[in-house]
Amino acid sequence: MVLVANQKGGVGKSTTVAAIAEMIAAAGKRGRRVLVVDGDPQANVTVEDLGVAGDRGQSLAQTLQFGAPLAPVRDVRPNLDVVPGGPQLAVVGAAAHLMVENGIDMGTNFQTQLTALCESEAYDLVVIDSGPGDVPLLDTYLSVANYLLIPTRDDQASLGGVERLAKRFWRARKRGASIQLLGVLLFDVNPRATKRNEEVFAQVSEMLEGSGTTPFDITIRSAPAAAVDMRTLHRTAGELVALANDERRSRLARLRDKQTPSRAMWSSDPSGLAADYQELVREIVARLRRFETTMEERVG
Ligand SMILES: Nc1ncnc2c1ncn2[C@@H]1O[C@H](COP(=O)(O)OP(=O)(O)OP(=O)(O)O)[C@@H](O)[C@H]1O
Ligand SMILES: [Mg+2]
Repeated sequence: MVLVANQKGGVGKSTTVAAIAEMIAAAGKRGRRVLVVDGDPQANVTVEDLGVAGDRGQSLAQTLQFGAPLAPVRDVRPNLDVVPGGPQLAVVGAAAHLMVENGIDMGTNFQTQLTALCESEAYDLVVIDSGPGDVPLLDTYLSVANYLLIPTRDDQASLGGVERLAKRFWRARKRGASIQLLGVLLFDVNPRATKRNEEVFAQVSEMLEGSGTTPFDITIRSAPAAAVDMRTLHRTAGELVALANDERRSRLARLRDKQTPSRAMWSSDPSGLAADYQELVREIVARLRRFETTMEERVG
């Protein structure tokens, strides 16, 4: 169960959740069963990235508040289900203090229902997206997830968000959460700004000192045209590659027939961006394996 979070907004959380979830679900012959939990009242990963209408966060809100069973939207892609986010979650977040007063533990409710769903649906991986703002919701997810992935841009405000979240992470661990820090991901990176990138890498490494983890080696390149396409067409980075190939073929056909080529996409070649995410998936899988073997060694 991987939580993707940063207390700063607009750092690539939702885009990354959709990209890695879709890639892992589609990988190989059989793929893996993946569940995305959209824990954000904005519902970006549900509506914008995956193109699912959703339930305004109703199901997840009922789970957090009353321990009701989770009701995922099934097969939004092959092997990929989603528990939608939405404004109902903001209501839950705002009422969190009342719940605590009344002995309602959102973490336990969420954990119980997520475990039940994972058992009945045999998911191999759960990826939780979170919003930038809602602290009670964030603390709930931190108390339940096994791993934390923190995407960030390289500006000081985003790096400040990493630092604030790291503090929340340690607080959650002190309270008994078993969550581990999987890594920090640099997002929207200019590959030509090598000096700046080295500087940011060093800064993030310093922040992570003592956590036993490092920033991911792979960074996600800046790709503003592909970003527009992903959101308007509701496709992930990986899916955009196939779409770009179709588009190229149909443009050539139209040119051959002397028709004006139509433009449905802004990005001409999203394959570099998709390759970054593919490499990220490889790094994530390798890190998860390393964590799980250390855990087995400790237990065994
Ligand atoms: N590779 C990229 N390069 C530049 N911009 C990108 C890239 N990928 C996505 N974006 C854009 O960056 C913006 C922020 O991305 P995203 O919504 O994933 O961030 P977020 O951290 O989930 O934001 P929030 O905190 O609001 O939930 C979006 O407008 C998205 O389209
Ligand atoms: Mg988001």
